[in-house]
Amino acid sequence: MGLVSSTPLLQEARKNGYGIVAFNVHTLEMMQAVVDAAEESRSPLILQSTVGTVKHLGMDYLVACARVAAEKATVPIALHLDHCQDFDLIVRCMRAGYTSVMIDASMHPFEENVQRTKKVVEVAKALGVNVEAELGKVGGVEDDIVVDEADALLADPLECVEFIERTGVPTLAPAIGTAHGIYKGEPNIDFHRIEEIYNRVGIPLVLHGGSGIPAEQVRRCVSLGMAKMNVATELKNAFSESIKQSFLNDPSELDPRKYMVPAKEAVKQLAKQKMELCGCFGRA
Ligand code: 13P
Repeated sequence: MGLVSSTPLLQEARKNGYGIVAFNVHTLEMMQAVVDAAEESRSPLILQSTVGTVKHLGMDYLVACARVAAEKATVPIALHLDHCQDFDLIVRCMRAGYTSVMIDASMHPFEENVQRTKKVVEVAKALGVNVEAELGKVGGVEDDIVVDEADALLADPLECVEFIERTGVPTLAPAIGTAHGIYKGEPNIDFHRIEEIYNRVGIPLVLHGGSGIPAEQVRRCVSLGMAKMNVATELKNAFSESIKQSFLNDPSELDPRKYMVPAKEAVKQLAKQKMELCGCFGRA
């Protein structure tokens, strides 16, 4: 069916109280594995790439592979650009075929975040592409964006309202206590804040830092307004740990097709777990 915009997918998810998982993929095999997980569980899917992966694989390869996946699939698939600060790159990705983009201007003062987001929303609207923006600051490490825990800042609900009114952004990632990467202890999620923000803005919210959040906390976030959950670190780890294990089992193996089979399986199983957790099994 081709790549679709994630806006209607996320609106539908919110309306029915489930979440769609957006997976950061870095290789063809990782992409195929999450697509297989979506097909087998009949879940809608968001494929996601960071700016670093756009540079690593090439925008054209990423779009071409995601398009093939979406054309063959019987479930809806969107392609999203994660955490991008560069307006020109965002526009190039939209033109190349990305159906969803994140403008991350959360490191700037509120007013500048509004202006930068508004500019992206204007172009995206004309192209039928979803836009996600961030308010507050999500801590941790994602690609080369590093936010120290001391600098992480929770989103202010009233600022969220003003931000959405002024930018027209269709999806919002408010910082609510999660962080990118693996948590040292349990995340300190401000559930009341999620509820308050969602009740005030009424648009699908995005949960960043999806790796390592305990199951019941993910369910609670989804029930309160999170319609999209980003998962990067756990997926990358599952893929790499499997390959490491293959080499421990047989250090002489030289055929990538051999160690990629279990690595794909590990990614697929993890993806299915996350999809089930967000309640999106059978929703496609
Ligand atoms: P994790 O690496 O914690 O899964 O976070 C992913 C994310 O939010 C990407 O934007």
